[in-house]
Amino acid sequence: MATSNIDIEKAKKTAEQIFGFLGGAMASAMIYLGDRMGIYQKMNGAGGVTSHELAHKTGLNERWVREWLHQQASSGVIDYKGDGRFELSAESALVLADENSPLFLAGGFCAIPQQMGLLNLLPESFKSGHGLSYDQMGPEVNRGVERLLAPWFRTQLVPSALPRLDGVVAKLQAGAKVADVGCGAGVAVVEMAKAFPKSDFHGYEIAKIPLVTARDNAKKAGIKNALFHDASVEPLAGDASCDFITTFDCLHDMTRPDLVMKSIRKAIKPDGTWLIADVHGQPTFESNLKDNPLAPVMYGFSVICCMSSALSEPDGLGLGTLGFPEPVARKMTAEAGFTRFVTKDFDNPINAYYEVRP
Ligand SMILES: C[S@@+](CC[C@H](N)C(=O)[O-])C[C@H]1O[C@@H](n2cnc3c(N)ncnc32)[C@H](O)[C@@H]1O
Repeated sequence: MATSNIDIEKAKKTAEQIFGFLGGAMASAMIYLGDRMGIYQKMNGAGGVTSHELAHKTGLNERWVREWLHQQASSGVIDYKGDGRFELSAESALVLADENSPLFLAGGFCAIPQQMGLLNLLPESFKSGHGLSYDQMGPEVNRGVERLLAPWFRTQLVPSALPRLDGVVAKLQAGAKVADVGCGAGVAVVEMAKAFPKSDFHGYEIAKIPLVTARDNAKKAGIKNALFHDASVEPLAGDASCDFITTFDCLHDMTRPDLVMKSIRKAIKPDGTWLIADVHGQPTFESNLKDNPLAPVMYGFSVICCMSSALSEPDGLGLGTLGFPEPVARKMTAEAGFTRFVTKDFDNPINAYYEVRP
């Protein structure tokens, strides 16, 4: 190997950076374990605890708990208070322990083992070009999507977002027909159906795994005004009957979002509203590289989940996680026959929101 032109300091820095990436992977793995074994819950509000106290509280083995605490403290996830005491701060508890906090993120980590397991299948996708549907990704991946996105639905959708759409809440209060397309585990439908008992809610989903969860979630919530449909056999009817349609974080995952958008255009009333939530992306790769600090996470999610899903049929457009930025959303909704497009800022660093009307 010719080394004369190699900047060895730069090579060492690259090695440091690459090795540092393992730190993120290890922290993610440990967050998975903390969430799975309920350790964050036991630390929440407990102040500074020793590994022995935490082992007692959780019923786990002290030596293993101590090593996990060392990893979490050295990652900066929890605080080391000295004298062998570790604390989950109130701020970290909002992110790691409180499932009802809008900042809760630990739930999404429940997908990590199955997502990483998909790496065994992806080399074949790189050769064939074909991705995996959400059913093929398995239950933990679907559960991870549900738990990652649910906090916003539970805390923001009804109280903060819907009132900022033109005339939608009045219609929902009076009794409206609503469709949530790509509804996943149905958390958004359940939240809206609880808040607006005079309206009828319909979730449409092609994957069987989240569809079962959605029906279960509706049953547990005791709501009678929500139905979930398998969109592959019972698609959205093109009868201009829907007052309000929503698509949350799913257009970029769909194989043919263009066709789904056209079916939404046929299903919506002339004075209806369509709320789109999709991942904040910049219009080009270059602008994502420059201005999007979440780009590395999002492109990774794309290969493992979103683009994979969007290529899971032979004719898939393959948009992917960052493939539906505002200019694409404007163009595709116009091509589907919508004439009004308003960008909404619902104070979410991950998602952009668009109020779209015929
Ligand atoms: C990232 S998940 C989001 C789920 C849900 N909207 C949420 O916010 O929790 C995307 C979902 O879109 C579904 N999907 C993809 N293509 C679809 C289609 N053509 N019709 C209905 N659902 C679809 C996938 O199966 C997956 O459950």
